[in-house]
Amino acid sequence: MNRKNVEKINELRNKHNAIILAHNYQLPEIQDIADFLGDSLDLAKKATKTDAENIIFCGVDFMAESAKILNPDKNVIHPDITAECPMANTVNTNELLSLKNNNPGSEIVSYINTRVETKAISDICCTSANGINVVESLTTDKIIFVPDKNLGTYIQEHVKAKELIIWPGVCPTHHRIRKNEIFKLKQAHPKAKILVHPECRPEVIDISDYALSTNGMINHAKDSDANEFIIGTEKELCYRLKKEIPDKIFYPIKTAICPNMKKITFEKVLNSLESLEPKIEIPEMLMEKAKVPLKKMMEINRGD
Ligand code: 13P
Ligand code: SF4
Repeated sequence: MNRKNVEKINELRNKHNAIILAHNYQLPEIQDIADFLGDSLDLAKKATKTDAENIIFCGVDFMAESAKILNPDKNVIHPDITAECPMANTVNTNELLSLKNNNPGSEIVSYINTRVETKAISDICCTSANGINVVESLTTDKIIFVPDKNLGTYIQEHVKAKELIIWPGVCPTHHRIRKNEIFKLKQAHPKAKILVHPECRPEVIDISDYALSTNGMINHAKDSDANEFIIGTEKELCYRLKKEIPDKIFYPIKTAICPNMKKITFEKVLNSLESLEPKIEIPEMLMEKAKVPLKKMMEINRGD
């Protein structure tokens, strides 16, 4: 990434009235050119507030799809359509529907990390930032939660009054983080607070000081009196943390990498800004159905 190429990005961004939205796990070269960086919830909200005609979405497919569902009249461009979330792909919609039929009175809460087809049969969506609040907001006591077993277990711990039937999916990147790695970092940096993502294993969440969404971690680190933090999530969040909070120290889990997030490169963003391709295309009926649970979720406040 040289200065000339950054100038080219800026020139094309102006020419096409485009905005670059990027998730907190994106490569530093993408974070540095993004107009807006965020977690899944803030990115979805930002997508509804922009005046830009073209949204270049740097993240995985479900995030770009959500931006399109919320903005059907805009071009949402995903620089690499093979950047998928493997956990989102664990949901089989036929099985999910029969699970609902076998549990009369239940409602489906789908994590935003799901494909559009799953959202279309869900009652409400949630993210890691508002999952507890979403489940608490429902009048039914029986909830089918898809697809993240760890997030579902975490929510169940906090909402004891409701029964969660939890889909057995996991995020490979977070599920790989083990208690011992956190302990080793804590031994080396005893003053550090432990912040982890709720997609981590329950035993990892149990030894943490706080379980938070990625933006929740950023806000917490900014406001906290502590100066050092062990960050139990995808390692690239530490790039943003170090950039925005330079006087504090962050210890990443160096092996926590989401390979799909890394598929979006500077070169691909440049190509997308030139061609305004590949665009996210979703059949209108499917989009209309998926919009309902997403919109419902947007009315619920963050809990982190
Ligand atoms: P956040 O919404 O907390 O950024 O998480 C998204 C995600 O994919 C975590 O793996
Ligand atoms: Fe999916 Fe995990 Fe990657 Fe997040 S980190 S996009 S949940 S695979």
